[in-house]
Amino acid sequence: MLDFDTLVQEGRVHASVYSDPAIFEHEMKTVFERSWVYIGHEAEVAHAGDYKRATMGRQPVILTRDKGDNLHVLLNRCRHRGTQVCQDEFGNSSFFRCAYHGWTYENNGDLTGVTFSDAYDETFEKEKMGLLRVPRVASYRGFVFASLEVNVSELSDYLAGAAEFINEFSDLSLGGEFDFFEGTQKTGYDGNWKFSMENGMDGYHPDFVHRSVIPKSTRVNDSRALTRDLGNGHGVIDSRAFGPPALDGSDDGGGYYMTVFPNLVVLKSQVRIIRPVSVNRTEVYTRVVHLRGLEDDISKTRLRNHQIGFGPAGSISPDDYEMFRRNREGFEAHSVDWVTLMRGLHSEEIEGNQRIGGLRDETPQRGFWRQWKKLTSGTDKE
Ligand code: FES
Ligand SMILES: [Fe+2]
Repeated sequence: MLDFDTLVQEGRVHASVYSDPAIFEHEMKTVFERSWVYIGHEAEVAHAGDYKRATMGRQPVILTRDKGDNLHVLLNRCRHRGTQVCQDEFGNSSFFRCAYHGWTYENNGDLTGVTFSDAYDETFEKEKMGLLRVPRVASYRGFVFASLEVNVSELSDYLAGAAEFINEFSDLSLGGEFDFFEGTQKTGYDGNWKFSMENGMDGYHPDFVHRSVIPKSTRVNDSRALTRDLGNGHGVIDSRAFGPPALDGSDDGGGYYMTVFPNLVVLKSQVRIIRPVSVNRTEVYTRVVHLRGLEDDISKTRLRNHQIGFGPAGSISPDDYEMFRRNREGFEAHSVDWVTLMRGLHSEEIEGNQRIGGLRDETPQRGFWRQWKKLTSGTDKE
C-alpha cells in the first residue's frame, strides 16, 4: 500500500513519486481518471465533423464536433475487438470506420454499421456498442476538458484561480477567440511528466538554465513578479505587474506562465499538452496561438519569436528538456531520497483562496503536490 502522507509532505516529496513505475500506474488511474483533463481547444475542432486525437493519461481519445455542434470525447477503441478507429491526428469526417473488420461509428460515437451483421442475433445490442463517450465534457473560453469520473465539480469551479488567466490569455485576441498557427510541435524527453508541469511555473530556474537569453536589464529581481498557487493544483508565475504579454511574443511585456492541473501549460504565445507515456518518458505537444486582429508582420514575428525560444533548436525549451534528463539521471543516486520544495514555505501570503509566493518560491509546486496527493490518496472522495 502506497503511503502518500509519507511520500508527499509540505516542503518535500519522495523521489519515487517521479521514478517508481507502480506509482506511475497508480496516478494514471487516479489523477487522470478522476479529474478534469485538458483535451484540446475548440479552435482545433471549429466545424461540424472536425476531430482531433488526444489522450487522457495514456488512454487514446478523439475530440469530435458532431453535426449538431456538440462536442464529444470518445475512447478511440473499436467495440468489436479493440482496434483504434481513428489514426489521423486531425481531420473532418462524419464517421469513423474501423480498418480491421469495418464497423462504422458516427462522429458522436453511435455504432451505425456492422459488416456481415447476420451473424449476430437479437442478443447483440447495437445501440449499446457505440464508441465509449467520456461522461463529462466541458469547455471554458474554448479550452475543452473531459473527465472519466462523473462526480467532479463544474469545470469553472475546478479551474479556480486559473480561470482569470485563461480569460486574459483569450482576450488578447480580437473578439476574445483565438486560433492556432498550422501544425503541432511535438517533443519528448526521457523523464517523468511532472518535471514539465513543475517547470512551467518555476521562476527559480531561468537565471541559470536560461542565462544565455535573459536580458541583462533583467526584471526578474523586481519583487513585483510573483508566484501563485491558484487552487486545485494550478499555479502561475505572475508578471502582470509589467503589463500584458507582448503580442509579438518577445520578452518586452509581462504576462504569466501558467499550469493547469494535470496536463495543460499556457505561457507566452503557446498552449502545451503534457502527455505521460511511461514513468520515464513524456511527450509535449505545443501549439502556437494565432491572435485575431493582429497585423500580419507582428503575427509573423510572434511565430518567429516562438521558434527562436521554444522551437526544436530554440534557445529556451531544449535546455529545460536537458534538465529533465539530468534530473532523471540524478535520481539514480537513490541513497538520497528526497526532493525539497520548501522555498518560501514560511513567507507565503494568503490572498483570497490563493497562496502567494515570491518569484523564486516553490509556492505553485506545493499547490500541485497538494492536489496530486488528494487524488492519489483518494482523499478527494472523502
Ligand atoms: S476490431 Fe473494429 S471491426 Fe473488428
Ligand atoms: Fe525553462
